[in-house]
Amino acid sequence: MDPKQHIIKILNLADHVISGETLSEALGISRVAVWKHIQALVQSGVPIVASSKGYQLENDPDNLQPWAFSARQKRIHYHPQTLSTMDDATELARQGCPNFTVVVADRQTQGRGRMQRDWLSGEGGLYFSVVVRPDIPMLLVGLINLAAAVDMAELLRSDYQIDAGVKWPNDILVGKHKICGILSQLEAEGEQVAYINIGIGLNVNNTAQTDEPVAVSMKSLLGRSVPRREILTGFLDRFEKRMAAFDSQKVVDQWKALNVTIGQRVRVFTIKDMIEGAAVDIDDHGGLIVRQADGAMKTVLVGDCFHR
Ligand code: BTN
Repeated sequence: MDPKQHIIKILNLADHVISGETLSEALGISRVAVWKHIQALVQSGVPIVASSKGYQLENDPDNLQPWAFSARQKRIHYHPQTLSTMDDATELARQGCPNFTVVVADRQTQGRGRMQRDWLSGEGGLYFSVVVRPDIPMLLVGLINLAAAVDMAELLRSDYQIDAGVKWPNDILVGKHKICGILSQLEAEGEQVAYINIGIGLNVNNTAQTDEPVAVSMKSLLGRSVPRREILTGFLDRFEKRMAAFDSQKVVDQWKALNVTIGQRVRVFTIKDMIEGAAVDIDDHGGLIVRQADGAMKTVLVGDCFHR
């Protein structure tokens, strides 16, 4: 392990002051070498406090800087502020970044949602994009968005006891209120998916603002602030595991178990038209099956859905 990463790992686990001697023994390097690594870490923004007794990491659990993600740190790109993590992730993907590269920001000044909407991205929310290079047929890529929604909804349910449901295609609602939005962007090379960039905006400690449906944040539901790093780590753990053994039928089943759309009267806007009727099911590729007033069935693969 790189000595700097090793130092962070030890200080992170300890959560108290660790002497230079202990670090030098653990790493098998001199105390002067330890001191030089610490200096470099401090200069790069890692909050290590030195005292006569040794070194301590001021570890804020809300901190999203790469060093705080231990084994994942090389694939985390952090910005205090950016235009949109989607643009940053697209640039990295085009430069050939590895699978599961993540761009995360504290704020976005041009955050965007589906259908050309803005995504207001103030302090306290979790805004990130994950570059995925899936080895699955093009026909099934729509299910990756549904899978991301399922993984985030299950995380909210199991780790925070939030009664999250998924709305087609991949919004996460609590009751009628939106807590999370997901946007994806794909680039293909012939029949092969080059990458999918999945952008997720989760209302955590921010004052949530979206037009429809009325938004809600984790903080307002739980009555306390939630450290964002544990959410991002928890999501990536689940999502990486799922993508390593992608099972399309499982995604469909899990999505159906969590969904709040099937059984609703809906209006679905696509780029070309609007389909109105009863949402009766999703198909094997994640398309929404709508029964229209005349009884005709229509399957929509991409669109924006409103419950009536
Ligand atoms: C939607 O519900 O319309 C999708 C919202 C997606 C917002 C996220 S925040 C991180 C990433 N960067 C963006 O500009 N958008 C996505």
